Amino acid sequence: MDDLRAKYIEAIAAAGDEATIEEVRLAAVGKKGEISLKMRELGKMTPEERQVAGPALNALKDEINAALTAKKAALADAALEERLKAEWLDVTLPVRPQRQGSIHPISQVMEEVTAIFADMGFSVAEGPQIESDWYNFDALNIPGHHPARAEMDTFYTHRAEGDDRPPHVLRTHTSPVQIRHMEKNGAPCRIIAPGRVYRSDYDQTHTPMFHQIEGLAIDKDISMANLKWVLEQFAAAFFEVDEVEVRFRASHFPFTEPSAEIDFRCSWVDGQLKLGEGDDWLEAGGSGMVHPKVLQAAGIDPALWQGFAFGLGIDRLAMLKYGIPDLRAFFESDLRWLRHYGFASLDVPTLHAGLSR
Ligand code: DAH
Repeated sequence: MDDLRAKYIEAIAAAGDEATIEEVRLAAVGKKGEISLKMRELGKMTPEERQVAGPALNALKDEINAALTAKKAALADAALEERLKAEWLDVTLPVRPQRQGSIHPISQVMEEVTAIFADMGFSVAEGPQIESDWYNFDALNIPGHHPARAEMDTFYTHRAEGDDRPPHVLRTHTSPVQIRHMEKNGAPCRIIAPGRVYRSDYDQTHTPMFHQIEGLAIDKDISMANLKWVLEQFAAAFFEVDEVEVRFRASHFPFTEPSAEIDFRCSWVDGQLKLGEGDDWLEAGGSGMVHPKVLQAAGIDPALWQGFAFGLGIDRLAMLKYGIPDLRAFFESDLRWLRHYGFASLDVPTLHAGLSR
């Protein structure tokens, strides 16, 4: 009986899973188990023998059953412990990026334009969007009576009663950044200044806030020819074509002399814009040789330095390149619009298209 006991207690202790436990249970106390068979033999014993063997067998059976139950519970605990370990989650891990957002076409075009000019050695300059009268107008040789100063075009900030300093304006163009940059850094310089500008305007192609990119290159011998080349390189790279002819149309800006409107050769085929070929011209912006008075206002000697400046409309470039028909949609925050025209965050700006040849 002691052998029997030792055999099964050991087998139970050694069992590593539920199936083995069940095997041990059947072998010991199952219907045909060794202990059960022994109990059946009690009937054949003498009453004296039975009195000894009966209680002993019963006690053994109880002991084995208890050991089985305990072992089962221990195995279940261990299994749970394993599972908890295996299914452990590190909630501090960063989430997998989900590409739900997209880049606004204006941001995309700003990136593209900036990258293209960076390739030509232009660095980025910035200025405030709330600008003084001086930087926005006077320093740029825009006189007090100029129509651009009229209330209907310019947003003026409010001055307190009795404060007669000229009010600040929401800058109407990126040109004041020219002055700020030259004042601070002197000549020579080669910068672009992309940014928001404001005018009191609202229709299909004008919004009260829009975006411009200003260009400025000052050195000893910079000419309109350099300006033309830079604009040609830019147009070809931006519109991703081999070549774009640039045409200068005589114009007037107070801050340049001579001044020229910039046109790119293009054609419209079935409402589709094609740059670089055809008999049409696309108006792209204004430009010219920086006016001596502007250099002077920025503390640069016009007898020593000269250079060109230009201003392009970013929104217009975006509309043309990506076929966006109505500027006002920029303000409606319609997600479907953004999904249609927006860019996946991994799209890289197209560079070098016009420069690598
Ligand atoms: N500031 C002008 C505008 O907003 C654009 C412009 C024209 C900028 C000629 C220039 C320039 O730098 O030379 O309409």
